[in-house]
Amino acid sequence: MRIDVVTLFPDFVRQCAAVGVVGRAQQRELLQVETWNPRDYTTDRHRTVDSSSYGGGPGMVMLIQPLRATLEVMRNAAPEPVHVIYLSPQGARLTQGRVEALAKRPRIALLCGRYEGVDERLLTHEVDEELSIGDYVLSGGELAAAVIIDAVGRLQDGALNDAQSAEQDSFSDGLLDCPHYAKPVHDALGSVPEVLLSGDHAAIARWRQKQSLGRTWLRRPELLSQRALDAQSRALLDEFRREHVQYEQKRQNDAVDD
Ligand SMILES: C[S@@+](CC[C@H](N)C(=O)[O-])C[C@H]1O[C@@H](n2cnc3c(N)ncnc32)[C@H](O)[C@@H]1O
Repeated sequence: MRIDVVTLFPDFVRQCAAVGVVGRAQQRELLQVETWNPRDYTTDRHRTVDSSSYGGGPGMVMLIQPLRATLEVMRNAAPEPVHVIYLSPQGARLTQGRVEALAKRPRIALLCGRYEGVDERLLTHEVDEELSIGDYVLSGGELAAAVIIDAVGRLQDGALNDAQSAEQDSFSDGLLDCPHYAKPVHDALGSVPEVLLSGDHAAIARWRQKQSLGRTWLRRPELLSQRALDAQSRALLDEFRREHVQYEQKRQNDAVDD
């Protein structure tokens, strides 16, 4: 997959994409990240990329000309058609489902805004989709681009050493992931649940599924209402709820005794 990033801060984006799983995906040639700086496509000697906003008010707006020229060179730099995404707090909220769909595309481009954003006419004519990484305002699109590169890059076949780990991650099947434990078995902070030490793969899978369902019910109940549970999942969730109620009652009793 190829990701082209249009940004005034190409070094930042390249550095983000050079580390960890995404860096390895690039080394393995599963992912190609290219950056394009609109300043390189300006026509004046000051390399101007912004100007004040018509109608007045604070803040500058990114100009059409340098962005249009950059996007044209970017589009022609590879034969694949490119799906252009503008990172914006006004865009559709990024979800794992959207990430999975983007990861299947051969090529996307990420347009990073700065200042008050980009001239609306450029967005109307050059952008296919606007995406937001959350209901808060960043000072630029680069962090959002880095988020998308990471989330999409790790889904490329062969990027993760254990392909199963992406399938088990939160949101992949509409649920949160189960808790995880590593060495030691016993620690001052507590012990590893016994079932995980049993070697009984069916019992471990059942425990993990129950924890996934239970965590989703506790932390993100709206995710559960968006998906139909089969009879086995419903039974596991009921079991988790009963155990949770018992655990909470015991905790309250212990607190009173103290
Ligand atoms: C200061 S923001 C501009 C905000 C814009 N005036 C508004 O209120 O919608 C500058 C740039 O940061 C990026 N940005 C800010 N928040 C973002 C978010 N939540 N998700 C994605 N990109 C964001 C966009 O590219 C935006 O053009």
